Amino acid sequence: MALKWRDSFSCDIKEIDDQHKRLFELGSNLYTLASLKDEYDHYDEIVQIIEELKSYTEYHFEYEENLMLQYNYSEYETHKLEHKAFINSLVKLEKEDLDVHQAQSIMKLIVFVTDWITAHIMKTDMKYKEFFKEKGK
Ligand SMILES: [Fe+2]
Ligand SMILES: [Fe+2]
Repeated sequence: MALKWRDSFSCDIKEIDDQHKRLFELGSNLYTLASLKDEYDHYDEIVQIIEELKSYTEYHFEYEENLMLQYNYSEYETHKLEHKAFINSLVKLEKEDLDVHQAQSIMKLIVFVTDWITAHIMKTDMKYKEFFKEKGK
């Protein structure tokens, strides 16, 4: 599970790098909270950050999609589908697992989210890096 930003994640577009960094930050906050072994129940805070992560992810996806549309990016549709599938999985996991209110399910969700975001940046977002560079973005 990669929670730390590395230069190899950079798409060379400042706004997008900043948004990706924010996603890592939220993922990292979630992981820290879920790993706490104190006497407090952090469930409500965890759910709150998951909601924040979800809405920030939606905002980020929309930002990327608009940019792709604006520059007529040929893989816009498939990229958008990946985004949509992720949000659907996240909503499903939230419903199934969080109700159970178990540390293990929460960790499962966190691992899924951080692995997905990392893989998506490295494989799918990276595909537009050269494209936008050529367009002078
Ligand atoms: Fe992205
Ligand atoms: Fe993306």
